[in-house]
Amino acid sequence: MNKVKVFAPATVANLNSGYDLLGLAIDYPGDEVVLTKKSSSGLVITKIEGDEGRLPLEAEKNCATVAIQAYLDYMNCKEGFEVEIHKKMPIGSGLGSSSASSVAGVFAANILLGEPLSKKELVQFAMQGEKIACGSAHADNVSPSLLGGIVSVSSYNPLQIHEIDFNLDLFVGVVHPDIEIKTADSRNVLPKSIPMEDVVKQTGYLSSLLLGLSQGNEEMISFGLQDVLVEPYRAKLIPAFVEIKKMALKMGAIGCGISGSGPSIFVMSKNKKIAENICNEIGKKFDSLNINSQSYCSAINKEGAKVVCEYK
Ligand code: HSE
Repeated sequence: MNKVKVFAPATVANLNSGYDLLGLAIDYPGDEVVLTKKSSSGLVITKIEGDEGRLPLEAEKNCATVAIQAYLDYMNCKEGFEVEIHKKMPIGSGLGSSSASSVAGVFAANILLGEPLSKKELVQFAMQGEKIACGSAHADNVSPSLLGGIVSVSSYNPLQIHEIDFNLDLFVGVVHPDIEIKTADSRNVLPKSIPMEDVVKQTGYLSSLLLGLSQGNEEMISFGLQDVLVEPYRAKLIPAFVEIKKMALKMGAIGCGISGSGPSIFVMSKNKKIAENICNEIGKKFDSLNINSQSYCSAINKEGAKVVCEYK
């Protein structure tokens, strides 16, 4: 095979209590990458669509090609590729936009080389795309985008990633208000040190979330979807966040929080209708503040990155 088109889904990272450690994939939106083998080595970006001209066309600056190059270097492979990137989600949205492009790039390259590595082994290269995009090689977006489902990053050095076997139907709604927050800026508002008391509280939330997911216990999940470490600082960057979260919980969400580094807000619920109703109300709230928004509701995506089309 010389050419392939792949899709990598958007993701909700952190899940409140798991800053840089937890993430899940949603069905849509997601990015597509078309990769074509070329006769000489090196990576050339031939087209980027859907980015309003904002993303770099230079291969050494674009997260997708940086991730592919990290993979090729590791494989000691001199193969060259033409790369087309179709952005299907807003940049700086908290939906894992750079991750989806990085994941799609690496996943496509691995397909064209005959799948020598597993999806899990590709995470380390997609993380290099994150590093170029925001200065931090976190794995909580790229892991679920590659693998699907809910993923826990237990360790960065050495990298340890575990797919969480959750035992109930869960739906996720995400509302993206049309304001941009750069991940680097959203990381910079966080304090450099935190009180032990808060660490203990957050560890309790995290363990409740993980146990609740594996036991299918909604109350434990709900308790675990809290955040005293990050949300208080980032909430200030999102108009009406506190009010919106209160409303979402009152309307029956199991949990509500900032998706990744924001400004998107996510809700988790037992059925799709609840998530859709809450997303509608959040949209109305943003309308009242003269902020446009888009919402996406789906079950948790179990597949992750996938081939859309193989060309002979
Ligand atoms: N864990 C990262 C953060 C995700 O919250 O900064 C970025 O999307």
